[in-house]
Amino acid sequence: MVSYKELGLVNTREMFAKAVAGGYAAFNFNNMEQLQAIIMAAAETKSPVILQVSKGARNYANQTLLRYMAQGAVEYAKELGWENPQICLHLDHGDSFELCKSCVDMGFSSVMIDASSKPYEENIELSKRVADYAHQYDVTVEAELGVLAGVEDEVSAEESHYTRPEEVIDFSQRTGCDSLAISVGTSHGAYKFRPEQCTRDPKTGRLVPPPLAFNVLHEIEKKLPGFPIVLHGSSSVPQEYVDIINEYGGNLPDAVGIPEEQLREASKSAVCKINIDSDSRLAMTAAIRKVFHDKPGEFDPRKYLGPARDEMKKLYMHKIIDVLGSNGKA
Ligand code: G3H
Ligand code: 13P
Ligand code: ZN
Repeated sequence: MVSYKELGLVNTREMFAKAVAGGYAAFNFNNMEQLQAIIMAAAETKSPVILQVSKGARNYANQTLLRYMAQGAVEYAKELGWENPQICLHLDHGDSFELCKSCVDMGFSSVMIDASSKPYEENIELSKRVADYAHQYDVTVEAELGVLAGVEDEVSAEESHYTRPEEVIDFSQRTGCDSLAISVGTSHGAYKFRPEQCTRDPKTGRLVPPPLAFNVLHEIEKKLPGFPIVLHGSSSVPQEYVDIINEYGGNLPDAVGIPEEQLREASKSAVCKINIDSDSRLAMTAAIRKVFHDKPGEFDPRKYLGPARDEMKKLYMHKIIDVLGSNGKA
């Protein structure tokens, strides 16, 4: 059993208590360059940050190595001049009690149990089991209610998967979760809406997605005043990266995300944590594709992973400063 406190990590409780007008970014990482870029951006802006590890990332990068990388990230942040780094190591989309327990036991400071696809009572039972275990070690727990839309779903199906405000009080009280991930129109990946769900900007020809269900978000907020809400699927899919990828041999037709103004608006409400993964993948891929195109003789990975890291750092700083406003809070 390793306590996250020994690794210099923090849980989300204090962060979220301070997230009155604004929120915090939760960035996924799978490799050293992403982690370096996140820490450089957080240290430079003095912003608390949540490092997210998915089940897939854990399998890809090895759970033991990931834990030491997170511990190393705390020391690296100090070396960069961030005296009191507030870094949370969070399991993203944990799908079983055993996985959540294993992360708690290995030094994670926060875990998500995502039982949102299960029937309501089963979701409560599993989320409560995880919360009861994690709370013994002061590890915070995110649970989810409602199902994020998949791009292949019909619009009507998407609406019926929104979180039902009438369930949130019962769910949060009975599970004892510390934060609640909800479904209000976001979804994972770089194709958040189908073209027929969008309109087109007549000047640019770009897809303009439909707005998030702010009415549902506000109803939830009224039911649970001050309770930390989490938005998954919050990448904005920057069109400049999509264009670079497509220009240099990629193929991402009609990729579209959540406009940043909407994320800004959401983070002024009870939304305390917004999850961003795809934008970092796009930044990395765009930078690498450009180097491969411009310098076909290059084969030193540092020469393409380095520019990719620079681009991701720029992206993370932008999210921290211009979208969440979490700079200067640590
Ligand atoms: O919510 C999903 C995250 O973007 C993680 O994705 O399972 O491919 O690591 P992954
Ligand atoms: P994106 O695919 O929009 O980056 O969402 C990431 C996420 O929700 C991770 O849990
Ligand atoms: Zn997610």
